[in-house]
Amino acid sequence: MPCTIVVGAQWGDEGKGKIIDILSADADIIVRYQGGNNAGHTVVIGDKEFILHLIPSGILHKGKMCIIGNGLVVDPEALLKEISMLREKGIEVDGNLLVSESAHVIFPYHKVIDKRRGAQIGTTGRGIGPCYVDKMARCGIRMADLVNKELLRKKLKANLEGSREFDFDEIYDAYIDYGRKIQKYFTNVSLFLNKAILKNKRILFEGAQGTLLDIDHGTYPYVTSSSSTAGGALTGTGVGPTKIDKVIGVVKAYTTRVGEGPFPTEFKKDLMEKIRSKGKEFGATTGRPRRCGWFDAVIVRHAVNVNGLSEIVVTKLDVLDEMEKIKICTGYKYKGKIYNDFPADLVVLENCTLIYEEYKGWMRDTTAIRSFKELPKNAKAYLERMSKLLGVKIGMVSVGSKRKQAFRI
Ligand code: GDP
Ligand code: IMO
Ligand code: MG
Repeated sequence: MPCTIVVGAQWGDEGKGKIIDILSADADIIVRYQGGNNAGHTVVIGDKEFILHLIPSGILHKGKMCIIGNGLVVDPEALLKEISMLREKGIEVDGNLLVSESAHVIFPYHKVIDKRRGAQIGTTGRGIGPCYVDKMARCGIRMADLVNKELLRKKLKANLEGSREFDFDEIYDAYIDYGRKIQKYFTNVSLFLNKAILKNKRILFEGAQGTLLDIDHGTYPYVTSSSSTAGGALTGTGVGPTKIDKVIGVVKAYTTRVGEGPFPTEFKKDLMEKIRSKGKEFGATTGRPRRCGWFDAVIVRHAVNVNGLSEIVVTKLDVLDEMEKIKICTGYKYKGKIYNDFPADLVVLENCTLIYEEYKGWMRDTTAIRSFKELPKNAKAYLERMSKLLGVKIGMVSVGSKRKQAFRI
């Protein structure tokens, strides 16, 4: 374990929160490295469900250090709300939470711009993209700036110049107050993690979104604005590549996507409704219905490559329990050409016909199964085929949302 990156291998919502929670039992530190509160990571413990947007999913284990890295864009109001939500549910974060001083801060104007300009992409409207735009344009405001009154005044004035929509004093006062409240969590994340690595501490890097939503490797422009792939874990925390031991990809046993953009294996109406209701496929952040489709080996193979996956964890296998037939997409066909590798050209993704393999379902409840050998024969065959097509081993399988509903292979 010492340094393990966990990434989503599809379009997000693969069950990263649940898997991070399980792996956290054997970790000392859990660190988010990109994105912001566009993420919604669900952890179910007993009859309590927790949805984490910013704080790492390891926070539900006592005594683990949870860190918000420099690569995130942080809405301080959302962060304070999340801290209160956890407190109300009996989880204390003080002493277990650190926030990078270099993480960028989301302001109200980012959210307004996002709702206006992000509509075509179907963004979460949380201001993520516009905040990263300011970061890249070098006019962003960082966490550390919130406790430097003069600097914040200067930067915020410059960013609001010419705007009649926003009241400078109101925003300034609110953000000075946020800074005052969050300052106690500030740290130099890179230094903290590198010292921990020298002491052999076990670190989990928690990815948000998924590989196909990555700004470079996803279905651009229908992506998020950060590097959700394994590379982002390095730049988003200040840890070097020689320190990473393992990269785990979380893979749903079928495919889902929220928002706009190409989705070759997307179901038609009947199957869509069946899987959506069985898999409770509604967004953890916005509540939007998720689009659902068959497992697409082409996109996950792409994830194996761009992340250098050492292994995968397959989640939500139980959602396929009542399917008589199950399909895996192994390639795309467009204008007479066969694509076994992910094409960057969206025209191909949007207009291709699909090459499928079809399998018999297992038609048995798997939610109480706790080992590979207990799985129905057809479920084993499905997983084995998946692993073969991807060229990586399966390290764990999940058959329900609860902690105990998972087993290692
Ligand atoms: P994340 O964003 O990758 O952390 O995933 P989300 O939390 O947004 O969505 C995953 C959903 O599936 C959550 O509601 C989880 O509680 C649930 N879930 C996770 N693993 C399983 C599983 O193996 N089976 C079932 N039925 N639900 C699961
Ligand atoms: P987790 O971490 C699924 C999608 C949005 C939209 C696109 C861009 O829970 O897996 P953004 O607000 O990021 O600019 O939106 O990305 N999206 C997600 N979809 N899971 C997520 O996070 C997502 N975060 C963003 O729906 O299509
Ligand atoms: Mg999610």
